[in-house]
Amino acid sequence: MKPGSLPSPAQVDHWQRGRQLAFKAVPAGGRAVEYLGKRFHVYPETFWPFADSQPLVRSLRVDDGDSVLDVGTGSGVIAIHACYLGAARVLALDVNPAALRSARRNAAEHGFSAVMEVRDSDLFEQVGDEQFDVITANLPFRDKAAPDVVARSQWDTGFRTNTRFFQQVTRYLKPGGRIYFAHANFGAPDAVLRLAAEAGLRCELLATGVRTPQAADQFYALLLQRAPAK
Ligand SMILES: C[S@@+](CC[C@H](N)C(=O)[O-])C[C@H]1O[C@@H](n2cnc3c(N)ncnc32)[C@H](O)[C@@H]1O
Repeated sequence: MKPGSLPSPAQVDHWQRGRQLAFKAVPAGGRAVEYLGKRFHVYPETFWPFADSQPLVRSLRVDDGDSVLDVGTGSGVIAIHACYLGAARVLALDVNPAALRSARRNAAEHGFSAVMEVRDSDLFEQVGDEQFDVITANLPFRDKAAPDVVARSQWDTGFRTNTRFFQQVTRYLKPGGRIYFAHANFGAPDAVLRLAAEAGLRCELLATGVRTPQAADQFYALLLQRAPAK
């Protein structure tokens, strides 16, 4: 991953604070958002599906009958796309009550309530001993103190959520399983590559995307798989 010419941290702060205010300002009944040709519902305080996850969703491979674990599901967009791709079971996790409510509504509206379970879980805490063919994650990209649950969708205090994710993720992955991980060049790509290597995962850049054609910030879809034993 080669960083291009990035927006300054102050510019990213300004942009992300604006998005957090917009998430909070959604009317109590929620609003509809269009994402990759499908409609999703977001209740106030839920992260709106956005360009950041699109390279991941576009490159996601789910074989018929696969089980999928989506960590940090937000409105459930990645999990629901996994359902459309043929997953037999999808478990979607989040810590934000508004996100859980949005994801449950979207699973029902897309007709996947029987396939997709939405669970309140800080990372893998409530997963138990289940293992999955595919794990997907679009976690907060930036190592920055998050003052509330809405900021937690974009900022990761001390990069602790990302660090714990990599320390624990292989326990929940079946042998031969695949992890699809979203990140950005204005996040902490070097830390992600280091954490993945420490977890014994080899990393492949599958796709990139941009916020607008003019923007230098880029979003990444990474494929992580257990490195073969030496
Ligand atoms: C960037 S948003 C992505 C939402 C959705 N997956 C998408 O792509 O639109 C990150 C999500 O991770 C959730 N999150 C942050 N920390 C978490 C944690 N420790 N455990 C579970 N979910 C977490 C946030 O609440 C937020 O919904």
